Amino acid sequence: MNLNQDTPRHIAIIMDGNGRWAKMRGKQRSEGHAAGMEALRATIRNAAEAGVKYLTVYAFSTENWGRPQEEVDALMELICKGVEMESDNLREGGIRVCVMGRKQLFSPKVLKAIESIEEKTREGEQMTLILALDYSSRSEITEAVRQIARKVQSGELTLEQIDQQLISDSLLTAGVPDPDLVIRTSGEYRLSNFLLWQASYAELYFSEVLWPDFDKAELQKALEAYALRERRYGLVK
Ligand code: FPP
Repeated sequence: MNLNQDTPRHIAIIMDGNGRWAKMRGKQRSEGHAAGMEALRATIRNAAEAGVKYLTVYAFSTENWGRPQEEVDALMELICKGVEMESDNLREGGIRVCVMGRKQLFSPKVLKAIESIEEKTREGEQMTLILALDYSSRSEITEAVRQIARKVQSGELTLEQIDQQLISDSLLTAGVPDPDLVIRTSGEYRLSNFLLWQASYAELYFSEVLWPDFDKAELQKALEAYALRERRYGLVK
């Protein structure tokens, strides 16, 4: 892939369609997630090669806890296996991994896996991979509001000091540039509680392919579509 000035610095992806991919093949949903993991591995490599600096993926939403226990267990197992198998590759590729989301509900085993991959890859400078795990944008914003209100209550902040930058800095993505491009696969046209504040000016791209089929050519198509977009941020060109 050619690196051009129109390469998005930050891509966020809603990896949708694993279940349908599995169903179409008469497989278990967990097999769809395993295939989705392969698509994620390839996309990490392809995005880094394209010059993307931040890749955020919606791997497990807070709402996903409500899925059948068997599927939740399979996803947790996949996180642990993925960490075990990929940590060294990611470190060697200069990929820094950060996990974004509530961490209280994960088992000690999953928490250990998360901490281990964050620690192992912390020096990575090629690209930052942000795994949204037990993530909910509305909860994130609610927590930021609480944090700010507490500071106002204690006198640490005045009302006048509350501005957009302060809100951005109070979110889990503090310090990370807003996504330039949000991709959702599987022909669904929703944000589903993902990066609602951060994606205010992101370009949205919807791919018809199911996530396990999202390959280098599909990423290339999204990048080409992005390069043709005119970003005006509410202004006149
Ligand atoms: C959405 O497809 C996908 C998920 C809820 C999980 C995404 C997980 C991966 C791509 C692989 C695992 C990666 C990590 C880091 C754990 P869906 O199940 O909603 O599909 P459907 O809409 O067709 O049912």
